[in-house]
Amino acid sequence: MSGPLPERGAVGGWAKPPRIRICPSVLSADFARLGEQISLIERAGADFLHVDVMDGQFVPSITFGPILVEAMRRLTSLPLDVHLMVADPLRFVEAFARAGSDHLTVHVEAVTDALAAVRAIRANGMRAGLSVKPRTPVERLLPALSGCDLALLMTVEPGAGGQPFLDVSADRIAALRAAIEAQGLDCLLGVDGGIGPATGPLALKAGADMFVAGHSVFRAPDPSAALAALRRSLEEA
Ligand code: DX5
Ligand code: ZN
Repeated sequence: MSGPLPERGAVGGWAKPPRIRICPSVLSADFARLGEQISLIERAGADFLHVDVMDGQFVPSITFGPILVEAMRRLTSLPLDVHLMVADPLRFVEAFARAGSDHLTVHVEAVTDALAAVRAIRANGMRAGLSVKPRTPVERLLPALSGCDLALLMTVEPGAGGQPFLDVSADRIAALRAAIEAQGLDCLLGVDGGIGPATGPLALKAGADMFVAGHSVFRAPDPSAALAALRRSLEEA
């Protein structure tokens, strides 16, 4: 691959004041109607499109890679929030940048130097995220937090949509929120897994401000109404 990376707009710093971001996870969409499903949630006011990349190694399932991200790039102007559940993710940073990813999140469990990883993502013109599995201490993120634009706390075991939210998550969210505030960072705190109108407010109260939602949006009879109901539940929490 050669040539300049695509221009992805201003990177670094989120719009103030802080607000709730809802990120439907395309993993739960109907892939036979991908364009239609993405347009639907874009019109319904989604903030980002969450894209789960799985490699069959870091997690048992396989989903898709940069080729499909590039197609999604042409289907929407929503920021593409790409979550890499892959082993040795730094191999793919440039490919996902070229495909048009806006945010690239890697797992702290999958890299040897988390700070170097987030710096490599930013160096490729994307916002950088670090994610942590439910059984990994959140403290593992702390040495690299200053280089992160988002911290993504898994509230289910990564690898599949449609699992129930893990109740142990609230304390972990609160610990991460405290660390972000203590360092005065401009870093979103995302939650991913089992998020809907019942669990989203719990996560919000614990300190989350970015909500990934797969099944609760795309598997609802009316995804637009489901997204609106999730937003309402968060705004009223
Ligand atoms: C799980 C993925 C999630 C998943 C969430 O490994 O990282 O983004 O799509 O799906 P729900 O909201 O259905 O739990
Ligand atoms: Zn995800």
